[in-house]
Amino acid sequence: MEEIIKLKNVTKEFKVLNRREGLKGSIRDLFSRDYRTVRAVNDISMDIMPGEIVGYLGPNGAGKSTTIKMMTGVLEPSSGEIICNGIIPYKNRSVNAQNIGVVFGQRSQLWWALPAVESFKILKDIYQVSDSTYKDMMELYSTMVDMDQLMHKPVRQMSLGQRTLCDILASFIHNPRVVFLDEPTIGLDVAMKAKIRELIKILNKEKSTTIILTTHDMGDVDALCRRIVIIDKGTMLYDNDIENLTELFGDYRTIKLSLIKKDEAITEDRLNELVASVRDILDVGAKAPEGITVSYNENEIEVLVDEHKNNIVKIMNLIQEKHKIYDMHLVEISTESVIKKIYERGI
Ligand SMILES: Nc1ncnc2c1ncn2[C@@H]1O[C@H](COP(=O)(O)OP(=O)(O)OP(=O)(O)O)[C@@H](O)[C@H]1O
Ligand SMILES: [Mg+2]
Repeated sequence: MEEIIKLKNVTKEFKVLNRREGLKGSIRDLFSRDYRTVRAVNDISMDIMPGEIVGYLGPNGAGKSTTIKMMTGVLEPSSGEIICNGIIPYKNRSVNAQNIGVVFGQRSQLWWALPAVESFKILKDIYQVSDSTYKDMMELYSTMVDMDQLMHKPVRQMSLGQRTLCDILASFIHNPRVVFLDEPTIGLDVAMKAKIRELIKILNKEKSTTIILTTHDMGDVDALCRRIVIIDKGTMLYDNDIENLTELFGDYRTIKLSLIKKDEAITEDRLNELVASVRDILDVGAKAPEGITVSYNENEIEVLVDEHKNNIVKIMNLIQEKHKIYDMHLVEISTESVIKKIYERGI
């Protein structure tokens, strides 16, 4: 099968002005500008196959959105080549737009004052979607979400979750071959996240749409992605199935601990306190002993341990001296922890 998107040695640099300080500086800036170059994306190559869902991951400022903007044709690479659906995106923006859908979780592409259904009709016209395709999509949508409830509400009256839902549906309306989702679950509650993931999964399956997804939520990755690409500081760190990544960390186990009663509500502050306390107990300070990381996920404290370097029973005993443990289980290293480790110190 031939790739649907191809990036070859893609680099993107931005020129940013080094502002001089003070009034004198501002005046000097007027006459001689002092630029510095920021390399946001550095020599990235990858092939994406039709129908794949690829998780495009990396810490803040890694270069994810910049890469997506190049793939959608909004930005031109400084060097290297991008082919998307057989064309060069920035040179053929309008043709490219026909083949792709885009959702930026932070902002909506829908018309604020209009009910979603009107936005959908405008998009139908813009993309020249045939009546039958449009009808098909609407039928598929109504099997997944309560369209009646969503479609007639002005977008500005929608909750963030409803709006995101509509944005995703809108991005699929012309049945594009590729959809880019840049942080589609940002700011949503657990139930809405689950709903959005389900929606993405079904759309990918029903329409064989290729999906490139960026997210900071490893729940998205676990639910949707088989393959992940990780970048940091513009440079690619990993491109493979997520399974292989977890295997690289085969000596690690995660101890999941409930330090509160099962149905007790807990605040983020309290969880942070518990994390700090467990770090103290295990002496995980600024200079952590090798192979122990403490964090939390949902309502549990997670202690990630390299079994070869540490004794799990000893760790449990130390924690138990200070805290009541309501529940505990041992799991293979989670995606969350693997990714966190890679962000922290590379592979
Ligand atoms: N238009 C621009 N001009 C100058 N620098 C830019 C521009 N756009 C992005 N950058 C810089 O490029 C780098 C990568 O930014 P990008 O938005 O691609 O990161 P990201 O991986 O999407 O991060 P996040 O997870 O925070 O969304 C950052 O250092 C950013 O400041
Ligand atoms: Mg971004």
